[in-house]
Amino acid sequence: MAASGGVVVQFKTLLYTARMSQRLQGFIFDLDGVVVFTDKYHYLGWKRLADTQGWHLDETIGHQLRGVSRIPALEVILEHNGVTVSEDEKHRLADIKNEYYKAFLRDINEDDLYPGAVEFVERVRELGMKTALASASKNAEAVLEALRLAHLFDAVVTGNDITRSKPDPQVFLTAAERFGVEPSRCVVFEDAYSGIEAAHNAGMQAVGVGDPARLPNASLCMTDYSELSLEDIIERGLE
Ligand code: BG6
Ligand code: MG
Repeated sequence: MAASGGVVVQFKTLLYTARMSQRLQGFIFDLDGVVVFTDKYHYLGWKRLADTQGWHLDETIGHQLRGVSRIPALEVILEHNGVTVSEDEKHRLADIKNEYYKAFLRDINEDDLYPGAVEFVERVRELGMKTALASASKNAEAVLEALRLAHLFDAVVTGNDITRSKPDPQVFLTAAERFGVEPSRCVVFEDAYSGIEAAHNAGMQAVGVGDPARLPNASLCMTDYSELSLEDIIERGLE
């Protein structure tokens, strides 16, 4: 009995040592444009608002809105158009955009999922990593619910939990704290330039999801989750 107990203890120590030697233990995923193509609906919501107001908004400006919280995103559009409005008016306009966005969400379905993303998160979990969803969106829970994705994450942080927009690291630091992993052992998946900055500001590594031309700050970029060697990333990080 004593001998087999010793073996069990040794095995547990070995497992623990193997886990501690891994470079990464926490995987944090942004939502819009990383797990679900709701980035498209955010853009279309802003575009509709801009059209009704007679403002210019194109896809280049649209990319600058990725990852940016609701009011700061509106401010980017206002600035591009040289428009100044009161704080109350900003909230009124942002509410209108949010109604347009929520109308798109009514029809959301599995075709809106980023191909391979769910399978990737599942593999990450099978390998014993912690997973978190960290989104600036106040609608993130509704999207997770509509597509039944919440069970994929040990922690969920949304726009309702944070006070500072990316590139502030608050959303990612909150996620790391909630699933109990040191920031230096976390990797973030992000489609936004501001999101990659936020990850770096949190002391985390970041994988860019999307066109590398608009994510020059990411040390690794991909458009297809099956391109990634998960075991290598876990052992060595992104360097
Ligand atoms: C981010 C999107 O995830 O959430 C941004 O990339 C959006 O485009 C931001 O502005 C805030 O979303 P919401 O749903 O709170 O207006
Ligand atoms: Mg995003």
